[in-house]
Amino acid sequence: MTRAIVRGLCLAVLGCEAESTEPVFVYEGPPIPWDYAPFPELVEPASNVSTDAKIALGRLLFYDPVLGRDEKTACATCHSEQWGFSDGLALSVGVDGEGPTGPGREGPNVTPRNAPTLWNVAWKESLFWDGRSSMLELQALDPLNNELELDLPVKDAVERLRAIPAYVELFDEAFPDAGKPRVTGTNIAKALSAFERTFITNFAPYDQYVGGDEGALTEESKQGMVLFHQAGCSSCHVPPLFDSERFEARIATDDVGRFKVTGDEADRGKMRVPTLRNLRETGPYFHDGSTVALEEAVLREATRAAEQGEGQPLSEAQAALVSVFLRKALMSRANEPTRPDEVPSGLAVPLDGFRIPR
Ligand code: HEC
Ligand code: HEC
Repeated sequence: MTRAIVRGLCLAVLGCEAESTEPVFVYEGPPIPWDYAPFPELVEPASNVSTDAKIALGRLLFYDPVLGRDEKTACATCHSEQWGFSDGLALSVGVDGEGPTGPGREGPNVTPRNAPTLWNVAWKESLFWDGRSSMLELQALDPLNNELELDLPVKDAVERLRAIPAYVELFDEAFPDAGKPRVTGTNIAKALSAFERTFITNFAPYDQYVGGDEGALTEESKQGMVLFHQAGCSSCHVPPLFDSERFEARIATDDVGRFKVTGDEADRGKMRVPTLRNLRETGPYFHDGSTVALEEAVLREATRAAEQGEGQPLSEAQAALVSVFLRKALMSRANEPTRPDEVPSGLAVPLDGFRIPR
């Protein structure tokens, strides 16, 4: 029965409540195993509406090692667009490290956790594996204060930037309404956040498929998608972002995880559900980087899900199909930023390592 007929019956025969004026969305794309949800709209905080000037400044700051105590390390050292905004390492190497981003980079300052991707980070309400930060603007200066990452007190960073006329001008353009001086910690955080909100991946083959292009997914990807749902994965890695604000304990670990934030014993070892978009580039996997191969990560998760009664177990062949779905259907570099050749400090932009042969 069509909606119009139901409504007609309602009004004429059944005498239902007043007709709703809300438009009813009916998904008409090719079959998907879950309820369709459109890709969410970007919501920016009213206190930091993006402008081209802010994004341009944020991009330079993200790649400029002027924010690293050693003048060699930048945000992009650990969140490289060449490595899915992670770095190809199990654990990241911060200031005083040697070598380009990627396997082989070494140094004395190693982070206790794997660097998460920043793709679609705009939608995250809890940041970091344990969700200890709630907003990009609040998070952005943490890496400076972290001695294992950039290790540069914010006031020193501000001092460095104020001494570079090109930056003073760029901050003037990005924050025309702010009082002077405009080179401040708050504005550094705002510009970085505006840039990070451009890391949007919403045009992967999966998005094209739900948009009506039935041929965008291969047979294998379609089978993998159904298995992904049957194995219970989509209840935590919820489409279309393939993540959620849930915290769950998935792997054996000494890391207290969410417990550190809530103090609740039940949260020990729990981590926020990571996105599975652009996963092809973001290994090694899990908060401790303990798994290199995607197939192995999928099997590990499927075994856990089956143990927990969340879904059907997967055979190795089925896990391989799920991996195909994740690797191909959820992959897109369409909105990737370009790395600047030069930055206003005149320092060398950190090397991006080499693309891994895939
Ligand atoms: C030395 C490597 C390193 C550097 C440099 C670094 N980060 Fe990170 N970043 C990490 C790691 C590791 C985490 C996860 C930490 C945790 O969860 O406890 C992280 C987490 C984040 C998150 C949270 C993402 C999420 O999904 O929860 C954001 C946002 C972020 N970093 C942005 C930045 C910005 C902006 C800069 C530069 C100002 C930067 N990072 C510099 C390693 C680094
Ligand atoms: C109950 C929630 C839940 C279910 C169900 C679930 N996951 Fe996860 N998944 C998580 C959490 C939480 C993590 C991060 C765990 C950690 O690192 O400690 C994770 C991590 C992953 C990772 C590593 C991602 C990365 O960037 O490091 C992959 C791959 C993954 N899951 C795939 C799957 C697949 C495939 C399924 C179904 C077989 C599945 N998950 C089921 C919650 C879940």
